[in-house]
Amino acid sequence: MPQGDIGLIGLAVMGQNLALNISDHGFSVAVYNRTTSKTEAFLKGSAADSSIIATTSLTELVNALKPPRKILLMVKAGEAVDALLEQLTPLLSPGDIVIDGGNSHYQDTTRRCSQFAEQGLCFVGCGISGGEEGARHGPALMPGGHSNAWPELQPIFEAIAARVKGEPCCRWMGEGGAGHYVKMVHNGIEYGDMQLIAEAYQLMHDGLGLSATELQTIFQDWNRGPLDSYLIEITGKILGVMDKDGQALLDKILDAAGQKGTGNWTVASALELGVPLTLIAEAVFARALSSRHQERQVAAQQLGASGKRLEAAEHEVIAAVHDALYAAKIISYAQGFMLLRAAAETFGWDLNYRDIALTWRGGCIIRSAFLDDIARAYDQQPELTNLLLNEFFSDALSRSETHWRQTISLGSHHAIPLPAMAAGLAFFDGYRCPRLPANLLQAQRDFFGAHQYERLDSPRGTFFHSDWNDQP
Ligand code: NAP
Ligand code: ATR
Repeated sequence: MPQGDIGLIGLAVMGQNLALNISDHGFSVAVYNRTTSKTEAFLKGSAADSSIIATTSLTELVNALKPPRKILLMVKAGEAVDALLEQLTPLLSPGDIVIDGGNSHYQDTTRRCSQFAEQGLCFVGCGISGGEEGARHGPALMPGGHSNAWPELQPIFEAIAARVKGEPCCRWMGEGGAGHYVKMVHNGIEYGDMQLIAEAYQLMHDGLGLSATELQTIFQDWNRGPLDSYLIEITGKILGVMDKDGQALLDKILDAAGQKGTGNWTVASALELGVPLTLIAEAVFARALSSRHQERQVAAQQLGASGKRLEAAEHEVIAAVHDALYAAKIISYAQGFMLLRAAAETFGWDLNYRDIALTWRGGCIIRSAFLDDIARAYDQQPELTNLLLNEFFSDALSRSETHWRQTISLGSHHAIPLPAMAAGLAFFDGYRCPRLPANLLQAQRDFFGAHQYERLDSPRGTFFHSDWNDQP
């Protein structure tokens, strides 16, 4: 008789830690890895004291599982997933469930869901956040796909997920690629949060000349207020780490950020859906600019290096930067949820925004007290069009606005780039602007291309064309 409650394929860092986590919660896990020596090493090493079942072929894995079979893939996203599915599907029976827990593109997941459904099988794409530590002790889980799979998976997923205030950071996100889409937006928001913190750091470090130790105290202090979050906490810790010579390690790290692509995917989706995701887009571009390190050195020589010391009082600048960071963060999340809303409409998903905020409260890199405020806003107003229209956030923005503008002015006057904070402010002003200059854009489009325009004094949908050259 098969014993396994769940199978897991892919014993790299994430797979091993998830297998141990699932096993610790009393479920029987059977594992398989393409390279058998890794399975053996795992069973002799960190899994030695567990009851994890090792298998050496996909057939052996499938035969070790109770029906309906549940198999979690933790392999490299992309071709590896399709290659494995091709080998695995002929071995499965109707009703069996395959879960892709990697960082797959949501469109791949949507395609795989349809292919599975045609064969009477269930496919689930599950965003998993929290890295190695999360996988071992409690990740945030964002499953979506064939809804028949959820009652089967729920007990295992809720048991292994991170918990906040007793609630698991795991909710069913919806059909098709919904889970991987939500995970992708999570990563985009992560880019925004990281860039905003980096801009606050640069203004205080370069503009005020504060040392890493002084900055550490500031970030530790900020972590006790509305900015309380994992990323602010680790920023404080990073600032306190010294190199062998006693100098701050951070000051010695090359200023060229890498990216693997989920921020890029998020912005590409926003462009496709016509959502003004300006802050996250600036965060992605800021990484791209940072990576042109050598080119920036030449430009600094030729054009004169940017960045001047601020004259303003230190404590006033610190207070202003704090509020600018908080206000811009509100914009970033408001834009992220705008994107989720647009995706739900376009792809026919019934996304629950409160559940998404609750899922992100623990286990993942963007975890923060702030997500409780977002969950509360959607609790009060489930049909809320935009977070900025919730009283809690509109009040917070109006309290921060003066300091936010001061911060952007300081950056501008002292040539310290604040692309994400400034993009957030431009969005805030644009979003509540009753008359944008798009009248001129429409006139120009009609002038050069006869694209027509609508008039304020005529019903929407009535189009006009003018002969713009026919003037005395
Ligand atoms: P990874 O380096 O992305 O993938 C390595 C695993 O994939 C190994 O088990 C490898 O098997 C297997 N694999 C690769 N190509 C294969 C193929 N053609 N057929 C069968 N197996 C194949 O591992 P990871 O870092 O643990 O991540 C797993 C997934 O989780 C990825 O999609 C990743 O993006 C996602 N993720 C990672 C993190 C993180 O912090 N690392 C966080 C969240 C999500 P062999 O041993 O035989 O090479
Ligand atoms: P988690 O869900 O735990 O956040 P993840 O999605 O695999 O784990 O990646 C965590 C973050 O590390 C993401 O912002 C990721 O950015 P990419 O979408 O660009 O991958 C970032 N990250 C991972 N590898 C990176 C690398 N080599 N350089 C820069 N950022 C990286």
